[in-house]
Amino acid sequence: MRDARSAPPFPIRRQARLAVFASGRGSNLGSLLEAFPSTGEEPLASIRLVVSDRDGAPALERGAEASLPAEHVPFGRQRASFEERAEELLRLHAIDLVCLAGFMRVLSPGFAERWHGRLLNVHPSLLPAFRGLRAPEQAIAAGVSVSGCTVHFVDAGVDTGRAIVQRRVRLEPGDDATALAGRILAEEHVAYPEAVRLVLRGEVSP
Ligand code: GAR
Repeated sequence: MRDARSAPPFPIRRQARLAVFASGRGSNLGSLLEAFPSTGEEPLASIRLVVSDRDGAPALERGAEASLPAEHVPFGRQRASFEERAEELLRLHAIDLVCLAGFMRVLSPGFAERWHGRLLNVHPSLLPAFRGLRAPEQAIAAGVSVSGCTVHFVDAGVDTGRAIVQRRVRLEPGDDATALAGRILAEEHVAYPEAVRLVLRGEVSP
């Protein structure tokens, strides 16, 4: 098998094929679809596959509406079986880069290693602050005045890989987690396509 670390995976001399993994509503998938439509008119990249661990996730509907293969792959207690099927799909659709977008599962270190440099995630905080779940709540509880979002490479840890793009959001008096998360989400929608462009042009690597 190709050594995932042997050579930088990007740039490539053709349109890159993207997959998006999402667990929920899929608004980041929506912003990525606007930037890299499934119809292929953006020369840099085109989304070719949507995967969700949740049956009936709105993200799957968004993918299907864009005429994409959009598959529910159960996760359950069986991370290995999820990863096996997901990697089968990634091979089948010749995917170059995987974007986790509101994907609420932790992939194995082996998966991260095989996709080294080709696996991205968006997280609603300025990493390394507030890793893990409910990052906007964590920011409010910590009393910080600025939080934001990070698009980063995924490595073997949880929310630990190298940051590619960060965007800041100021906390307002009286902010609750929903209000803050909403303003952070709007920044994610800008940050994610920007990060994908940087990676595909080979301007940043893990
Ligand atoms: C986004 O805020 C994303 O940063 C967060 O889930 C939301 C998904 O929204 N992800 C995580 O917290 C991962 N640890 P979306 O489904 O509308 O894109």
